[in-house]
Amino acid sequence: MVPSTLAEAAVMAKDLRQQINHHNHCYYVLDNPEITDAIYDKLVRQLIELEKAFPELITADSPTQRVGAAPAAGFERVTHLTPLKSLSNAFSREELMAFDSRVKSGLGVDNIEYVVEHKIDGLAINLTYEKGILARGATRGDGIEGEDVTANIRTIRSVPLRLIAKDFEIPELLEVRGEVYMPRQAFERLNRERKEKDEPPLANPRNAAAGSLRQLDPQATANRALDVFIYGIGVSGNIKFDTHAEMLRYLATLGFKVNPHYQVFGSIVEVIDYCESWSDKRNELPYDIDGLVIKVNNMAYQQALGATAKDPRWAIAYKFPAEQATTVVEDIFVGVGRTGALTPTAILRPVRLAGSVISRATLHNEDYIQEKDIRVGDTVIIHKAGEVIPEVIAVVKEKRTGKEKPFVMPGICPECGSSAVRKPGEAAHKCINPSCPALRREGLIHFVSRDAMNIEGLGPAVITTLLDAGLLNDAADFYKLTVEDLVKLERMGQKSAQNLVDAIDKSKQAGLARVLFGLGIRYVGVKAAGIIARHFGTIDAVMRASLDELMKLDEIGGKIAESVVGYFTSTDNLELVERLKQFRVRMTEDKPTNQGEQLFAGLTFVLTGTLVGMTRAEATDLIESLGGKVSGSVSKKTSYVVVGAEAGSKLEKARQLGVAVLTEEQFKDLAQSNLHH
Ligand code: IVH
Repeated sequence: MVPSTLAEAAVMAKDLRQQINHHNHCYYVLDNPEITDAIYDKLVRQLIELEKAFPELITADSPTQRVGAAPAAGFERVTHLTPLKSLSNAFSREELMAFDSRVKSGLGVDNIEYVVEHKIDGLAINLTYEKGILARGATRGDGIEGEDVTANIRTIRSVPLRLIAKDFEIPELLEVRGEVYMPRQAFERLNRERKEKDEPPLANPRNAAAGSLRQLDPQATANRALDVFIYGIGVSGNIKFDTHAEMLRYLATLGFKVNPHYQVFGSIVEVIDYCESWSDKRNELPYDIDGLVIKVNNMAYQQALGATAKDPRWAIAYKFPAEQATTVVEDIFVGVGRTGALTPTAILRPVRLAGSVISRATLHNEDYIQEKDIRVGDTVIIHKAGEVIPEVIAVVKEKRTGKEKPFVMPGICPECGSSAVRKPGEAAHKCINPSCPALRREGLIHFVSRDAMNIEGLGPAVITTLLDAGLLNDAADFYKLTVEDLVKLERMGQKSAQNLVDAIDKSKQAGLARVLFGLGIRYVGVKAAGIIARHFGTIDAVMRASLDELMKLDEIGGKIAESVVGYFTSTDNLELVERLKQFRVRMTEDKPTNQGEQLFAGLTFVLTGTLVGMTRAEATDLIESLGGKVSGSVSKKTSYVVVGAEAGSKLEKARQLGVAVLTEEQFKDLAQSNLHH
C-alpha cells in the first residue's frame, strides 16, 4: 500500500525506519528479538517499496542502505579525531600486582576500583557520529591515521547507523572505539566454504575479520557475518562520566553493542582471580578473546594518570599465553620416519610460542603443503596447543614477494636413494626399501625411548654411531654391547661406556608393556601396549592371540588388532623376539590380581601439569597397574587430580568441584603405600 503524496510517504518512511531500527537493535545488539524474522522482513520490504516509489526519501542512515557502492580508488587515509592508544601487556599475577602498585603510587591513593573487560581478539575500529548519524568508520592504522572503511563498517548489523536518543543528549560529534570481530561459528562456516571452493583456510577469526573489513566490495564484507563490541569514547562533546562503567552503560543506551562481561572490582586480587577464571572459560565463548583488559574505573583518576607516548597508564592488558605466532619458513626438510614415511618439516625463523622458542613445525605430508600452499620463504602462522608439535596452519599471502619457492616432494628417499612412492589412498610417500637405514635407525631410537625401554644415554647420535660402526642390526643387538665395544667409539669414555651398559642391562626389567610399545608395531601406542600386556601377561600369549581375542579388549579396535597379529607373522619379527628372550629381556607383565585387592581399584585419576620424576605415560602405567583409571578431564567422578608444574585449568576445576588434589610426591607416596602392605 504505497501512499500517493510525498508528505504521507515521508511520515511512513520515518515510522518504518524507526520500527526497523528498533528491531534491528533488539536482534543484533541485544540478541533478544521481539518479532519473528518474517514480520521483520515484511517491514524491510515495505520500506524498500516505499523508497523505490519515492527515491528522494532515501537517507544515508536508512536500514535499507547498509550495503552501498565500493569506494572508487581503494581506502582513503583518515586522521582520527583523537588518537587510538594501545595497551601495555601483563602475562602474570606479578605484573598485574606491579601495575596496581604503579597506579596507586601514581595517584597517592590506596583504594582503586578496576573494571575488567574481555580483550576481544579482532581489530580496533574508530566510529564517528555526526548528529547521531554514522559519518565514518576507520581502521586503527597506526593509531593516528587509519583507513576509511565506512562502506564496510555499515554492513555490520550491530553498528547503529543512527543512535537512539532516549533520555540522553547526543553530542554533535561523537567518536567511539571498539573491536570488530568474527564470531567463531561464522569463522568455521567461512573456512568450510573456502574448503569446498579449494581455497586455503584462514588462520583464525582475527585474520578473517581483518581481511573481511578490508574487502573493496562492501557486498563481500556484508557476506562475512562480522560483529562489533564498543568499549570506549574518543571525542565526546560535553558529556562527562564519573566512571568507565557508567560510560559503558551510556554507550549501551545509545544503541551500541557493549560486551556484557565487564565487571567492577575493589582490589587487584579479585581482578587477578577474575582474569584467571577466564583462561579456561574463554573456550566456551562464541568469540575469541586473547586476554582481559583492566581499566581504572574512576575517570578523574584516568585523567590524572594520563598516558605514555604509546599506552595509557590507567589500563593494562592481561594476555593469555599465545597459541599462535607468525614467522618465516626458511627451508623445508624431508625426514624419514620409523614407518618409512617421508615427513616434511618446516625449518622456521625461531619464534616464541606458548612459552618456548619454536624453530620447526611439522608439515605432515604432500597434501597438507599443497592444500595450504606453503612455500619456502613464506610468512606463516604457526599454532601449538598443549603438548602437541607445532603446526603451520596458514600462509600470510599478503606478505608474498614472488620469490617464494613451491615445494616438491622428492621421488626418492632422502636417506637411501631408493624410490619413495605414494600408494593410492595413502597420504604419505614411503621409502620402498625395507632395509632403508632410516627405518632401522628410527626404529632403534624408538625402542630405547622414554616410554619404551627408557635407556638413558642412548640418544639418536649414539645410535647413529653404533650403526655406522656396524655394531647394531636390530634392537636385540643393544644387549650384546660390551664396554670394550663402546670405548672404541668416538667421544665415549670408560665411564660413560660402563653407564650405558648398565642402563641397557637395567632395561631388561622394563616389562612386556614397554617391550610391546618399543617394538614399534604400527598403531600400538603406549596405552594399547599396556592394555594388551596386562591382559595377556606374556609375550607368548600375545603372539598366540587371535584377532577376536584382541578385539575383545577395551579400547583395542580392528586396526590395532590386525597390526599386532600381522606383526607376529613375520619371521624377522619372531626372530627378534626370540633373541630378546635369549638376552633375558623380561617379556611378562603382572596380570591384574583380584580387583578388590588393588589399591587404586575403582579410582579415577586426572594428570595435569608437567610431572618432574616421571612421564605421563609412566604415571598412567602405575595407576593402571594398581587397578585405577586415568581420565583426561576433571568431573565430580574424579577421585584425585595429580598436579605437576604449571598446572592450569584442570587444577582450577578440581578446586571448584572439591576434588582431592595430590602433588607428584603425595601421589607417589600413595602408590608406594601399596608396596608396603
Ligand atoms: S582499550 C586506551 N578495551 O586491544 C585503551 N582495547 O592493544 C585502548 N582491545 O588495539 C584500548 N578489547 O583493539 C580496549 N575491551 C577492550 C579491548 C581492547 C580488545 C584491543 C584494541 C586495542 C588492543 C590494545
